[in-house]
Amino acid sequence: MLNFNFQNPTHIYFGEGQIKAISREIPLNAKVLLVYGGGSIKSNGVYQQAKDALAKHTWFEFSGIEPNPTYDTLMKAQEIIKTENIDYLLAVGGGSVVDGAKFIAAAALFEGDDPWDILAKNQKVTKALPIGAVLTLPATGSESNGNSVVTRNGNKLPFASPLVRPLFSVLDPSVTLSLSDRQIGNGVVDAFVHTIEQYLTYSVNGKVQDRFSEGLLQTLIEEGPKALSPATKEDLEVRANIMWSATMALNGLIGAGVPQDWATHMIGHELTGAFGIDHARTLSIVLPAVMKVKREQKREKLLQYATRVWHINEGDDDARIDQAIRLTEEFFKKMQLPIRLSDVDLGSNDIDLLINRLDQHRLTALGEHSDITIETSREILTLAI
Ligand code: NZQ
Ligand code: ZN
Repeated sequence: MLNFNFQNPTHIYFGEGQIKAISREIPLNAKVLLVYGGGSIKSNGVYQQAKDALAKHTWFEFSGIEPNPTYDTLMKAQEIIKTENIDYLLAVGGGSVVDGAKFIAAAALFEGDDPWDILAKNQKVTKALPIGAVLTLPATGSESNGNSVVTRNGNKLPFASPLVRPLFSVLDPSVTLSLSDRQIGNGVVDAFVHTIEQYLTYSVNGKVQDRFSEGLLQTLIEEGPKALSPATKEDLEVRANIMWSATMALNGLIGAGVPQDWATHMIGHELTGAFGIDHARTLSIVLPAVMKVKREQKREKLLQYATRVWHINEGDDDARIDQAIRLTEEFFKKMQLPIRLSDVDLGSNDIDLLINRLDQHRLTALGEHSDITIETSREILTLAI
């Protein structure tokens, strides 16, 4: 196992009716900015619950954070933060809203010229407003990590800082009942790929991390399709298991002390930045091709994945790996996600643009061995056609 340090201080309130906990988590003398997206929280009752919980607080609101939040939208929040002396952010929504709140929190106290430098020039975040969250879409893990992804002019870039990790997050599975099938499928696959990118590398004998990861993958494989099936989609236990899996997949626990491979995400971000494809739908297209192209480097873990996650015990090594990749693709299809570029009407003519963007963003040494060069990314994208 590799050396690591691990601390996750986000206080989680899990379960039905927990939104009211925000009234005691946010100090009464705070000036709160409730930030949200396009309005789903107004139609599913979450906004009203947050409003009730904030009855004794002084609070304002900022809405319109779009999926794949943009710099331009997020910077608009700075005005109300200054005029009302906001000192606490409450993000209510999916990963985009929580990520957006993180950038708003860092930009509000940024001392350099342009907060975009946090993403474009890796400028360190030294101060940020405190954040609380009510999560409405299980997928990203943003509710209990310090990561955020922001887009500007087609450039979708990540930043990370412990200072923007939410101090608390409410996870009420019942608020996920209003999600569309598309967002449910996206969320399950995003969490699945987060787990894979911290698991499917090379072995360092991290038995705890491996078995936690295998448990999360199996839970998502079992419960994901139930959230799409008419007979079980309203089952709150199904929703609870998916919600907790997604948080655990990217709260730092399973990735501590093991190698990580974020190539699928980095290539996927270019697909979203260039063509606007939903985040998870880029991952379901890129991951199978990464598994195929990096098959030799990942051989040992692919075999472990085949045996322990998919229970494939027959055939020679290569046949078992083929079967595991095939079952992964079938799972993505069952969750109603595309698995090829052609499924989203892209093809060989679109690859140059993606390759140029990867180069421009200096994403030229990806993967657990830093050996996914620009040429390897081209091979991956070509195989994904
Ligand atoms: O904007 P509203 O009206 O709220 O609608 C949203 C949005 O249209 C809707 N929605 C959310 N909760 C709902 C709901 N609709 C009905 N009922 C509910 N309960 O769903 C749509 C998509 O929301 P979004 O927040 O964009 O989805 P997701 O949670 O998948 O977040 C995706 C973003 O997170 C980033 C992605 O790159 C992308 O920008 N990621 C963040 C990560 C992190 N912070 O660690 C890691 C991930 O890998 C990912 O990169
Ligand atoms: Zn993701």
